[in-house]
This record gives sequence, C-alpha cells and structure tokens, in this order.
Amino acid sequence: MTRTALITGASSGIGRAVASRLLDQGYQVIGLSRTVDDSTFEHDRFTGFQADLSDLAALPDRLSLLLQRFPIIDSAVFCAGQGLFGCLEEFSYGQLRSVMDLNFTSQAYIARALVPMFKRNKKGDMVFIGSEAALSGSRKGTIYCASKFALRGFTQALRDECGKSGLRITLINPGMVKTSFFHGLSFTHGESASHAIEPEDIAKLVSTVFEMRSATILDEINLSPSSTVVRFKS
Ligand SMILES: NC(=O)c1ccc[n+]([C@@H]2O[C@H](COP(=O)([O-])OP(=O)(O)OC[C@H]3O[C@@H](n4cnc5c(N)ncnc54)[C@H](OP(=O)(O)O)[C@@H]3O)[C@@H](O)[C@H]2O)c1
Repeated sequence: MTRTALITGASSGIGRAVASRLLDQGYQVIGLSRTVDDSTFEHDRFTGFQADLSDLAALPDRLSLLLQRFPIIDSAVFCAGQGLFGCLEEFSYGQLRSVMDLNFTSQAYIARALVPMFKRNKKGDMVFIGSEAALSGSRKGTIYCASKFALRGFTQALRDECGKSGLRITLINPGMVKTSFFHGLSFTHGESASHAIEPEDIAKLVSTVFEMRSATILDEINLSPSSTVVRFKS
C-alpha cells in the first residue's frame, strides 16, 4: 500500500532531501512550507501545500484544510525551522516569540491535528528534527536551545502518551548540516566534507525509522560531523 508522508520544510535543506528520498521509495509526499508548490518536485506523487507556520492564529484553519484535502496521512517529518543566535538582549521580544512559534509551538499544533487520525488508524510515524542544541545549552543559543529543548520534552511525553496506540515518535538531533540554515546567520560550518552532515544522511535515517519493525521505536538519534568547525563570516 502506498504510504503518505507530510513533510514540513520540504522546499529546502533537510526537508527537501527527505521528500526526495521518500518519493524515490514510492511514497505519496505532501510538502509544506511558505514557498513550496507542486512544481517544487516534478513528480506526480508530490503535492505542495503552502502555510506559514509562524502564523499561529491562522494555523488551525490551514491544518483543517490540509486534512480535508489529504484525509489519509500515515507519517510526518517535521523539518521546518529557523536559527537565531546572539546574546539574549540583542533579540526583540517579537523575535523571541517567533522562534518559539515556529520551532516549537507550530510543531505541537501539527502533531495535535494528526494524532486523532493516527490513533484511529492505530499507527502513524512522526519524526521531528531537533538539534544538538536540544541536548545542552550554549552561549548565544538561548532562544534556539529553548525551542529545541521544548521540542525534545514534547516528543518524550508524546511518545509515552501514544506508544500503546501504535504511534511512533522519533527525535533526530543533528549537529551542523550543510543547508541554507546558515544563510542569515553570522557563522557557518567549515568547508571540508568532514565539517558538516549532508541532508541526505538525515533522509537515510528517516527511511530507517520508517522501515523499522512496527513494534520497535527509535526514540532519539544524535549525529554530528566527524569534525566540528565553526567558521565566522566576515
Ligand atoms: N542545518 C543545520 O545545521 C541544522 C542542525 C540541527 C538542526 N537543524 C534543524 O533542521 C531543520 C531544517 O533546517 P534546514 O537545515 O533544512 O534549513 P533550511 O534549508 O533553511 O530549511 C528550512 C525549511 O523551513 C521552512 N520554513 C522556514 N520558516 C517557515 C515558516 N514560517 N513556515 C513554514 N515553513 C518554514 C523553509 O521553507 P520556506 O522558506 O519555503 O517557508 C525551509 O523549507 C530546522 O528545524 C533546524 O533547526 C538544522
């Protein structure tokens, strides 16, 4: 039976790599982001669905529409997110809220919308892209780390709550990945292949999670480049 996966952040980076791999594996893929559309992948099993996940007021209605259009979804990969790094006092109050809205609260909203369907079907996979920033706080990462710690607590609790209903919840915590995540930031990874994870490496992990025997859950996966180098932009 064809599986249907919702992938947030499918227009770029990790989400795009996951969408590409799942399309290759025969999945029906619904890609969600602000700019995605059907032409993001020239593939008859790909559909784009636009939503701004930081607009929490509009999100419940967008999610209702999504579920009306796609009443059968059996897996979701949560890749949409943004980085914001600096000393706390450099951020506006609006920036603090917007990182939490996108990196944490919107993910909880989407999971909230999907869980009833997954429980009815007694199965469903959710893979969240956390970060190494979910594992320990570090300077200039106050709000980003907080958003990823929140996501980690959420996934741990949801796994405990839904495991008996056949739902599998996985959190993947990567170190630096070669994507456009760093475009608006003052730093990036080093230039050698050993300085960054490839988004395709994470896509492979997502496939492994989905292919795992249904009674086994991969709770959390941490991965990092073999050599971490932070390069500051001039
Ligand atoms: N790259 C890294 O080093 C790294 C390391 C650890 C964790 N992560 C996490 O991995 C996830 C994916 O990041 P990436 O590295 O793939 O970065 P990316 O290439 O910049 O992709 C970010 C994705 O999020 C979507 N997005 C951003 N704001 C959105 C919004 N308001 N509403 C809907 N979609 C939105 C973007 O699509 P649109 O612009 O089309 O909306 C894009 O598809 C993030 O959660 C990030 O925190 C990244």
